[in-house]
Amino acid sequence: MRKVNAKEISLLLDWYREHKRTLPWRDEVSPYRTWVSEIMLQQTRVEAAKGYFLRWITRFPTVGDLAAASEEEVLKAWEGLGYYSRARNLHKAAKLVARAGGELPRDKKALESLPGIGTYTAGAILSIAFGEKEPAVDGNVLRVISRLTAEPFDITKNEAKEKVATDLRPLMPDGETSDFTQALFELGALVCLPNALPRCDLCPLAGECEAHRLGTETDYPPRTVKPEKRREALTVFVLALEGKYAIRKRPSSGLLANLWELPNTCGTLSTEDAARLYDGEITSLPPATHVFTHVVWEMTGYFVRLSAPPAEKDLIFITPEALRETYPLPSAFSSYRRYCK
Ligand code: ADE
Repeated sequence: MRKVNAKEISLLLDWYREHKRTLPWRDEVSPYRTWVSEIMLQQTRVEAAKGYFLRWITRFPTVGDLAAASEEEVLKAWEGLGYYSRARNLHKAAKLVARAGGELPRDKKALESLPGIGTYTAGAILSIAFGEKEPAVDGNVLRVISRLTAEPFDITKNEAKEKVATDLRPLMPDGETSDFTQALFELGALVCLPNALPRCDLCPLAGECEAHRLGTETDYPPRTVKPEKRREALTVFVLALEGKYAIRKRPSSGLLANLWELPNTCGTLSTEDAARLYDGEITSLPPATHVFTHVVWEMTGYFVRLSAPPAEKDLIFITPEALRETYPLPSAFSSYRRYCK
């Protein structure tokens, strides 16, 4: 396989300095800010992450502030981002870091021992915030390098990322490790786009790129077959009682663990079946779907203006304001939460 070389890195860095986006985690860099932004960016688009990042940093300006917050406050700040274990792990790790003095460690193994920090995140924190020569190879970086070298990496395997990290490490320039890491992200995000969309006309590396020379950019990296998602039917209730709405806590393990939810039951209930569960005036709401990583919820919804409190013990009735301010309700319910007003 042909390796990336110093000339390519130099072209990439020049391009980055001219074209980099202004992003909130870039105007002031610290290990904590890099950590938070990298965890957010793992499964969230840059545009969506910007607002969350700014609100998070205002709400929890330091590791100590995050460590001192309650889990409910942390999940509320994450509400809508999905993959809530990311927020729980940030919180757990913040408590460990705070107990050890409040500074993130400048060491790969120590970083990787913290909940939620893997090889990629450790590399991003070390290179972006600490100036250490440790690459951060995510799917975007793998795609850029796969095309540049026409190497058909299997993106589902860790070995590919390890191989790329080993090849990139000696090319990281002194004092420029932050730009090096972010230039690769930026090229993957703005130019070397996935699927059939690479913008080779804009690419500083087009003249060096092996896949471009062969006209086979879109063959790299080879596509992998994704397993089909399981479909689950669910009937969701918006239960209104005297200006308040019913929510309940989800179980402490499994999908969306410990978050709040609108009351719901498995399966697709007809209006007649749904009306038998609660006393009151029932109206049908539009169906909704929500796609998770491994499962798709196909939801049927009903609004019930209750004539009496239901017998269910686990329901609490809250105001729309409390729902907005305090209780983390995952986006899976957003099609129905809008009726809680
Ligand atoms: N994707 C992952 N990390 C990023 C960063 N720091 N800037 C832009 N996009 C990213």
